Amino acid sequence: MQLTPMAPKCGVEVSGVSLANCTDAEMDNIRTTIYEHGVAVFRDQEFSPEDHITFGKRWGGVDVNKYFPISDDFPEIALVKKEADESTNIGGAWHTDHSYDQIPAMGSVLVARDLPPSGGDTQWAHMGAAYDALPDDLKAEIEGLSAFHTADHVYKEDGLYAQTDMGKNLRGQHVRTGATHPVVIRHPQTGRKLLYVNGGFTINFVGQTREESLPLLQRLLDAAVMDDNQCRLQWKPGTVAIWDNRTSWHNALNDYAGHRREMHRITLSGEPLAA
Ligand code: SIN
Repeated sequence: MQLTPMAPKCGVEVSGVSLANCTDAEMDNIRTTIYEHGVAVFRDQEFSPEDHITFGKRWGGVDVNKYFPISDDFPEIALVKKEADESTNIGGAWHTDHSYDQIPAMGSVLVARDLPPSGGDTQWAHMGAAYDALPDDLKAEIEGLSAFHTADHVYKEDGLYAQTDMGKNLRGQHVRTGATHPVVIRHPQTGRKLLYVNGGFTINFVGQTREESLPLLQRLLDAAVMDDNQCRLQWKPGTVAIWDNRTSWHNALNDYAGHRREMHRITLSGEPLAA
């Protein structure tokens, strides 16, 4: 496997491996690669929906998303799609997948199935680099803090998506979620300190109201997406991205009006998080 950095602090392109046929040793290498770099990108893959599911199950378990439409034939696969006549996309703001679960998904495997002629890139930001770059006084302020995460405001009956043309495509409007995680976690495998709040699902710090939490939360959210923490992927047919949801945030750009984009996502089961 050869690794080529996508940006100085986030993301690598990996060549020399076929995901559908990878060995256990290559699988272990991919794991350590995403733990370190946040996201790994694989080009020119022959990766059918069956391969996608087999790969996810080999990794150690699949957490089916509660809200996205699922494939009729492959219920483990969540469809991240936007039709040519729709305006709102899925995942079009910085977030990390499933942080509203008490045992959040460790990662995600996203496969390009139908791409617009241009646009529809995805960005990632590295939360280890984000934490490292915080000023010492801010690091001291967040040491020992925990935060509450939920997806209710996003997906419920009158939530953010319900007010858009994507609302009709989603499910799980009655599901209620809520989880508390340390603001700074240690990566379960590498022990690296990572900032673990995100703009999509983090509501407040424990012991503080939303209003009291917002100034500090906003400082952290702004610091996390400094340009030099980020990388950006231009998808092509056959591209697969695998990312670590603890090490990275991501953001799906919505700049392809009038064109269809369909991606298949499997979300990989994780473990409880600790400071
Ligand atoms: C997501 O998983 O949030 C969507 C990413 C994308 O569509 O690029």
